[in-house]
Amino acid sequence: MQAVELICKKRDGGTFSTEEINWLIEQYTQGTIPDYQMASLLMAIYWRGMDARETSDLTLAMARSGEQLHVNTVISPVIDKHSTGGVGDKVTLAVAPLVAACGVAVGKMTGRGLGHTGGTVDKLESVDGFTIELSREDFMRILREHQIVLAGQSNDLAPADGKLYALRDVTGTIESIPLIASSIMSKKLAIGASHLLLDVKFGSGAFMKNIEQARLLAQAMVAIGQAAGVHTVAAITSMEQPLGRAIGNALELREAIDILRGQGPEDVSELCYHEAAEILVMTQKAATLAEAEQLVAQTIQSGAALKKLAEVIAAQQGNAQQILQPELLPVAPVRSMLPAPRSGYIAAINAEGLGLASMSLGAGRFKKGDPVDHRTGLVLQAKVGNHIQAGDPLIEIHARDEQEAQQIQSALLACYQWSDHPIKIHPLICDIIR
Ligand code: URA
Repeated sequence: MQAVELICKKRDGGTFSTEEINWLIEQYTQGTIPDYQMASLLMAIYWRGMDARETSDLTLAMARSGEQLHVNTVISPVIDKHSTGGVGDKVTLAVAPLVAACGVAVGKMTGRGLGHTGGTVDKLESVDGFTIELSREDFMRILREHQIVLAGQSNDLAPADGKLYALRDVTGTIESIPLIASSIMSKKLAIGASHLLLDVKFGSGAFMKNIEQARLLAQAMVAIGQAAGVHTVAAITSMEQPLGRAIGNALELREAIDILRGQGPEDVSELCYHEAAEILVMTQKAATLAEAEQLVAQTIQSGAALKKLAEVIAAQQGNAQQILQPELLPVAPVRSMLPAPRSGYIAAINAEGLGLASMSLGAGRFKKGDPVDHRTGLVLQAKVGNHIQAGDPLIEIHARDEQEAQQIQSALLACYQWSDHPIKIHPLICDIIR
């Protein structure tokens, strides 16, 4: 087989066989196929696409390119959860301990934030001492002992994807549904959970800008999961405005704690409870969604869900007291309230804009490896559809100093659109693909 023959085949609209895909991934991982040929092939895939069988084959080949954890051989059922990312997305922080407290094991590797979307790892590292760097043995032990483990993404997992993603990033080939679906799913299949819940977000703050694209990605990933024998469900959810009220690491962790106490903002709490209920039905801990929702409510009320978060934090060397007493989490030295510039209904809040503003307060990274300030960020005082008066609190800025808090104000105000008339609110969960 020659790489150039396969480039020409895809360029002319052909379909790769399983053997051809396996060969391509093996040779590329070993370095036998150079980046310039793989870049050309990726561009051919970008234009010509891949069918469901090719996409599944590509995913499996990438999943096999490195270490495979097979977590379902340690404990079963075991759920993994993935969000395509957004602004204020603290859902994993709440859903993982919630379902673990309901008796469903959670084995998850999670990433750092890059760009305007935050990362679960950075939020968890707001806790003193918490470590996401776990050996394979520790990952498995914590999963067995506590039914929940939240580790950082291992570089040994699906290394072919790591190499391909870096190449796609600089060759204009990121935005391809089969390439995105296979990239995300290869890392999930390498972990080897028995069940997978995907949260595919769309809107200004998300990777997918519209619902049609989000649905295509969700369908592609569910098909890959099912073909690999993993029970996979995808929720398609809106990221037209930030999720909940808090944006920033310790601020979002505090909001997740509120959700686990049954005191979180309505939108994000409902999403977390619904996703948890879906997981309980998928894993047969509940027969119906109604039964699952009841179990979720009981687990919140009894305090077991919050206790589970404290338990996993302690198991990963973090200070669990900061979960039970969130006032011990780090706080920014400056807190300043930005008032509403006018009266009216909030018609839109640009999630990407607020994500970027939060980054410039130090809560995110402009480039890989930048340090993050866990204390900083924003807390929205009103959401789309709310009516407020000029001068009412609009957004609380948590900054490192007065100057940064001042400098950000005009960028924040530019993220808001106003209306004199009531605004129709769209549901957060738009579809579930099973
Ligand atoms: N996230 C991934 O892991 N891969 C992609 O291709 C896009 C987002």
